[in-house]
Amino acid sequence: MKSGAGTAHTAVPAFVPRNDKKIYRMNGHSVRHLPAAFIMAALIGASAMNPLRAQDSQSDTQNAEAQRVIAQGKDIFKTKATCQFCHKWDASGDQGYGGNALSLHATKLNPAQVAQTVKCGRPGTGMPYHDALAYTDKRCYGVTREQLGNAMPPEPNAFLNDDEINAVVKYLFATDVGRGPSTYQDCVEFWGSKTRQCDPMKPH
Ligand code: HEC
Repeated sequence: MKSGAGTAHTAVPAFVPRNDKKIYRMNGHSVRHLPAAFIMAALIGASAMNPLRAQDSQSDTQNAEAQRVIAQGKDIFKTKATCQFCHKWDASGDQGYGGNALSLHATKLNPAQVAQTVKCGRPGTGMPYHDALAYTDKRCYGVTREQLGNAMPPEPNAFLNDDEINAVVKYLFATDVGRGPSTYQDCVEFWGSKTRQCDPMKPH
């Protein structure tokens, strides 16, 4: 998309201090003003530390954050936006309420396109929009509610903000997109073991 391309570079400040050698950073803290003895102690401590361990704990933090986002996405898919009403619990698609909701196992869309579909819905189909301001301006496919007329997608069960849309997209790509048929185990993971929802899928 070309719009805005002409202004893309104006946001970069004329002078960006990239390599200020006077500031030594350790774990993100500037140590410029600390007493020399403290700096020595910190350096000795740092060199004794196993660098691999430090990396591990960083990726543990990243993993924990990724897991949190996926869990949030599941909650949105299951409860808040009730995507599963139309797409089925495993996003394998369903026919009925809302029309023929496509299988997200088989989708050819990339994460950005799935996010846009969730935000804007799909005009002329039963796929609801989830951005409260979709079609108030031209953020969705360059058209407004007035221009869409009867093709306006349905209202959602709940509006979602960008973080929530990102979470549901992460959830779908982590659990459903590109997957084959779901198993009994997948079903129990989705619904928990306290319901009988998965009984029909139980292996004999
Ligand atoms: C009221 C029913 C309904 C709900 C709720 C619903 N969808 Fe849909 N969805 C549909 C229908 C129907 C289609 C098929 C649109 C078409 O024919 O192109 C669809 C299509 C899609 C597509 C496009 C797939 C493709 O390959 O083109 C994605 C992605 C999607 N839905 C994700 C979601 C997510 C995520 C949620 C929850 C935030 C959700 N949907 C909620 C009915 C629904």
